[in-house]
Amino acid sequence: MDTQKMKTPDFLWRPMTQHKALLNNRPKHIVRGDGCFMINEDGNRILDATAGLWCVNVGHGRKELAQVAKDQMEKLAYVIPVMTCDPAVELSGKMLEMLDMEKGHVYFTSSGSEANETAFKIVRQYHLQTGSYRKTKIISRHRAYHGNTLATMTATGQAERKIGFEPLAPGFLHVPPPYPYRRHAKLSIEEHGLECAKFLEDTIIHEGEDTVAAVIMEPMISGGGVLVPPDNYWPEVRKICDKYNVLVIMDEVVSGFGRTGKMFGHEHWGVKADIFTFAKGMASGYMPIAATVVKENIFEAFYGEANELKHFRQVNTYGGHPVASAVSLKNIEIVNQENLVQNADKMGEYMRERLNSLADHPYVGEIRGKGLLLGVELVSDKDKKTPMEMAQANTIVQNCLKQGVSIMRNGFTIPGLGNILIMCPPLILQESEADQIVDAVSNSLKQALN
Ligand SMILES: Cc1ncc(COP(=O)(O)O)c(C=O)c1O
Repeated sequence: MDTQKMKTPDFLWRPMTQHKALLNNRPKHIVRGDGCFMINEDGNRILDATAGLWCVNVGHGRKELAQVAKDQMEKLAYVIPVMTCDPAVELSGKMLEMLDMEKGHVYFTSSGSEANETAFKIVRQYHLQTGSYRKTKIISRHRAYHGNTLATMTATGQAERKIGFEPLAPGFLHVPPPYPYRRHAKLSIEEHGLECAKFLEDTIIHEGEDTVAAVIMEPMISGGGVLVPPDNYWPEVRKICDKYNVLVIMDEVVSGFGRTGKMFGHEHWGVKADIFTFAKGMASGYMPIAATVVKENIFEAFYGEANELKHFRQVNTYGGHPVASAVSLKNIEIVNQENLVQNADKMGEYMRERLNSLADHPYVGEIRGKGLLLGVELVSDKDKKTPMEMAQANTIVQNCLKQGVSIMRNGFTIPGLGNILIMCPPLILQESEADQIVDAVSNSLKQALN
């Protein structure tokens, strides 16, 4: 890279970035955060309509979180994770209480990928230790993202994320997710929900029910294009998994802690998982922290004598980190005290209503989402639902940025289907900020017609 063009020499290898494209186009360099805004080195305010990477739920610049981190660092900055500390113990209890679980156990890590990877290992060891030694396969869905490690990337259903990394982990299968907008025209939404659940059941049957360990699914797919399932889908999935002794892992890495207008995404469908995974909203990105929460019957399968090797044989240096746990607890307090879940619901409705005024635009296929997890599917032919070309969709995102609003697109996920604009701003969003986001999208769509 020609670092001469940079104000400061820059040796960062950026994720998901073609560095050649940066030669004449310096990436945004952010120096400060304030509420829903990021402030760059030139002092310009950019509305962070993606809450960082779906995580800064309580907004930027929270001094109370900084204070908690400072206090905890001074008191106890680190402890080996086989020992315990107050913040981690308190946080584990808080999470079970929030999940309405009387019993259960919480395994802490530092990222969503680790939380999911941990869940995969737990389900395999669980089945081995409960007599179903052949149950090792994990089913996930096309389009979903579950992380960047080899196993979580294998579970990810996005072909473009995997190029160059093969061979991936063995023992993973994919089924199609509900996608009401692109369902077969002859099916009602409910029939489509049942059809997708049936795909799952057929896959379990064809693979051999005694070989399938678990499914991993987000309550609604986020990074894969904001896909909201029909209401009958989740209850049906739960029923099928119970029938075949297949554990349900719900990836709440994005949807947890208020993002969808409920504290947890699964609350929309009244269905519980055997294992939940969380990250992002747990500490609003102020500290890296994640969790894998299991029901007590799963935990109990790991009980035994030390030399039986039945215990969960994984360690994460930063698991149950005192500072990250303390910040997470304070973050949860803020979410509750400031009614941010309710605000996500209310502002999500408001944004959807305003976005709906764009429904007749020739390039707008569908506007969808829940709470402050919103997507606009772009098409080049509305009747045929032809996905908009990636380059054109990208220009729309870039034009929003030129207006001071940072949104995302599901780029480099599924070949030819990087056509969904994604908005997931901090949950503290106010009407004026929602207006600014919708106005930027609206202007960019108008420009796209010229
Ligand atoms: C649904 C989902 N699961 C897991 C992950 C992985 O989280 P992390 O990037 O913290 O490893 C992500 C990241 O965006 C995600 O969206």
